[in-house]
Amino acid sequence: MSGWRAMAKARHVAIIMDGNGRWAKKRHLPRAVGHQRGVEAVRTVVRAAREMGLEALTLYAFSTENWRRPEDEISALMGLLKRYIISDIDEFVANNVRLKVIGDYTALPADVVTLIDDALARTAGNTGTWLVIALNYGAQDEIARAATRAAAKGPITPATIEAELDTAELPPLDLLIRTSGEVRLSNFLLWQAAYAEMWFTEVLWPDFKPEHLLEALDAFAKRERRYGGR
Ligand code: FPP
Repeated sequence: MSGWRAMAKARHVAIIMDGNGRWAKKRHLPRAVGHQRGVEAVRTVVRAAREMGLEALTLYAFSTENWRRPEDEISALMGLLKRYIISDIDEFVANNVRLKVIGDYTALPADVVTLIDDALARTAGNTGTWLVIALNYGAQDEIARAATRAAAKGPITPATIEAELDTAELPPLDLLIRTSGEVRLSNFLLWQAAYAEMWFTEVLWPDFKPEHLLEALDAFAKRERRYGGR
């Protein structure tokens, strides 16, 4: 795995993990099975990101809009999230992974909140790869919350808003990946994406492998970023 490190020039990668439902539908399986396989992809990609030496990996797990999904799908997603944290927290602790949540996760079911708080506390002293999970996250909501806090402290400028974003302590977003062929941001990291590179793939999230992450990182390494200059 050490060979991967040299290629990973991006510091912070974010992923819109789309296509679990279509993956299941193609196989005549319940949507929940697609989400289950989606968690397997999460586990593999988180391990790869750490081994590749990424500084931060941000995953869009549950949006402010996902509350509109049927109740049984929401509770299946919450159950999967809980099981993932319970089964992988020791691995995060052992591998110096630092967990962070963006979005107002306190609106999630109380048992999920307790589990998250415990996981955050257990990894708070870690200094390795940030695993950032977006939960009850919407970028417009994040920016509104940040602007409110910034206004309470003084004049609003891009810098004062940025300092209040949920992502304030993370490295700048370099690369945003979306799976399943959809080409839109869906209220994810709108502010942070201002200068990020975008990489879209037809691959459905449950089929996403470390090789695809490498492909995206490779494409990123080849792009010239000018930040509006020349
Ligand atoms: C999109 O698929 C995926 C989601 C809405 C949720 C992503 C969640 C997971 C991968 C599992 C839980 C996360 C973690 C971090 C353990 P979709 O249902 O919108 O697919 P479709 O567009 O094909 O219907």
